[in-house]
Amino acid sequence: MTQRKLFVTTALPYANGKFHIGHIMEYIQADIWVRYQRMQGAQVNFVGADDAHGAPIMIAAEKAGQTPEAFVGAIAAGRQQYLDGFQVRFDNWHSTHSPENTELAQAIYRDLKAAGLIETRTIEQFFDPEKNMFLPDRYIKGECPRCHSKDQYGDNCEVCSAVYAPTDLINPYSALTGAKPVLKNSEHYFFQLSNPRCVEFLQDWTQNGQHVQPEVANKVKEWFGTRTNPDGSTSEGLGDWDISRDAPYFGIEIPDAPGKYFYVWLDAPVGYLASLKNLLDKRGEDYAAYMADPALEQVHFIGKDIVTFHTLFWPAMLKFSGRKTPDKICVHGFLTVNNGEKMSKSRGTGLDPLKYLDLGMNPEWLRYYLAAKLNGRNEDIDFNPDDFMARVNSDLIGKFVNIASRAAGFIAKRFGGQLGTPGADGQALVATLQAEAGAIAEAFEKRDTARALREVMLLADRVNEYVDANKPWELAKKEGADARLQDVCTTCIEAFRLLALYLKPVLPSLAAQVEAFLKIEPLQWPDASRLLSAGHGIGAYQHLMQRVDVKQLDALFEPPAAAEPEQALPGGEAIAETIGIDDFSKIDLRIARIVACQKVEGSTKLLQLTLDVGEGKTRNVFSGIASSYQPEQLVGKLTVVVANLAPRKMKFGLSEGMVLAASHADGKADTGIYVLEPFAGAQPGMRVR
Ligand code: 2FM
Ligand code: ZN
Repeated sequence: MTQRKLFVTTALPYANGKFHIGHIMEYIQADIWVRYQRMQGAQVNFVGADDAHGAPIMIAAEKAGQTPEAFVGAIAAGRQQYLDGFQVRFDNWHSTHSPENTELAQAIYRDLKAAGLIETRTIEQFFDPEKNMFLPDRYIKGECPRCHSKDQYGDNCEVCSAVYAPTDLINPYSALTGAKPVLKNSEHYFFQLSNPRCVEFLQDWTQNGQHVQPEVANKVKEWFGTRTNPDGSTSEGLGDWDISRDAPYFGIEIPDAPGKYFYVWLDAPVGYLASLKNLLDKRGEDYAAYMADPALEQVHFIGKDIVTFHTLFWPAMLKFSGRKTPDKICVHGFLTVNNGEKMSKSRGTGLDPLKYLDLGMNPEWLRYYLAAKLNGRNEDIDFNPDDFMARVNSDLIGKFVNIASRAAGFIAKRFGGQLGTPGADGQALVATLQAEAGAIAEAFEKRDTARALREVMLLADRVNEYVDANKPWELAKKEGADARLQDVCTTCIEAFRLLALYLKPVLPSLAAQVEAFLKIEPLQWPDASRLLSAGHGIGAYQHLMQRVDVKQLDALFEPPAAAEPEQALPGGEAIAETIGIDDFSKIDLRIARIVACQKVEGSTKLLQLTLDVGEGKTRNVFSGIASSYQPEQLVGKLTVVVANLAPRKMKFGLSEGMVLAASHADGKADTGIYVLEPFAGAQPGMRVR
């Protein structure tokens, strides 16, 4: 058989938050599939990246006082510990904010334009006059037109579930500044998905049974029929896709369209290709040649919430820009914890993956448990702590790991570590195990890891029955039963090797330990049809895996430590995460003289300060200290200012720094705010370090 050539991806996570357990589940699912394919000899490139663009990230960065680049950079730096921790082995992790992605997204756009599938239309949209930007629907709030609840989002009401357009809101306001938004025209770029060429292609592509699961195809079919628009009206078939956003936007510029950027979802999937290209470039391989190989299979693992993008927009973008279209979109459902909330992207509650690792819980327990639940369909699955403990302790350890511990000691002590030859019954048992290699492989191929593991555990049951029937511990005490003892233990070891092979995609480091202990080469799938030879020497058995301790699970689901009374500080705020000196030195703190100070008309919180930071000019800074100081108390005093904070445009003007002051997080009004003042002798412009 020729080697399969696979390009595999997982969905690119937004670079505005840490990974939650839902991300980890997807990565584990894809990683298992990739490892299985590699064991079958496939040549795989498995890549991920951060999805760095879009308005929410731009706004979050601004709130954090960082450039979007620095903001997404910090998120990216936190990724590897999760991936290493859960043994998810991407060949590359890149970013959509990269030269490769800019080049590829712009090239795809140009090709779509040349294919006559891009058009412009003027649309009317809410605009925030204070922030000077068009507002995405989620940044417009107001009163629900149906039930009149206040502070509802621009697209639906959380109180009465009404769905509407932002323009239907009563007294709309910008969630960013509170300003009243105005309607303004803007020219937008559209990808003509409604074009008959696109519709025909997508109908075939989604419904021909080759690229998506049947349940996904059925869902997608609905979108070719009648659609309900945000305002409640209906339209027929696919709508065109608005792919542009106006500056300011953190994204990729649209060629020949000044001030226009690609909507984040246009460049996000291109990030798959960008990460691959970055990897191949680093290896000195040719991207174009790689993609041009007709044997190449392109496989995307995603969650069911982003099916539209991956079964309509993405294949159409690729097809009509003259590129290779995906071969498979593998859709999984959501993960719930304790039948609880959906693991939403913004608010991954329940099971914190880093806490799991920090508690010293074995990542392979989780890999095993999730694999035992995932069946290749897009159903939701639930993490249940009792079920988790039962499956790991009773199945994985009780049925599988224990086989080796029951046999290996005798081989070491009694036979100098050397295997013998299985007897007729042992050979029959081993043959039974070998006969399942094909069925188990098929289950892995279909991502039905639940079935694969069920099969493996049934085989483990057979092996345990054999052990119980032959009782090596009794044979060991019986005169003249040495040969039988060696034969039985050899059978057990051989069976154990086969089970370890079948479990290797799920449990890579356990399998590596087994390989070391059995002194064998890394197990590949074809090794299922081979046997260890008589006289093969194995190493000393070392315990392969601990059992789950219920205390660990209790700790895992305990509320975060900061909420515990003994850890709380006055004011209810725990000490922030540890940082290094490098982190600290990024903050440029300077002594400043308050040259002038005045109240801010229209604000009860702010004072406006004029600061001399030793730069030969003054700075204007707004500070939320009006509840604790009168302007005259401050004039002439020295204080400390964050001098390299990105300037912030506020309702009342530009703020060019931040004055340091102490307060409790809660009850600022009760306990006050205290501006910092240096000891005598400090001069404006001195650095505080
Ligand atoms: O839904 C999300 O989290 C997106 N960041 C997924 C993008 S997948 C791909 F298109 F980049
Ligand atoms: Zn309502």
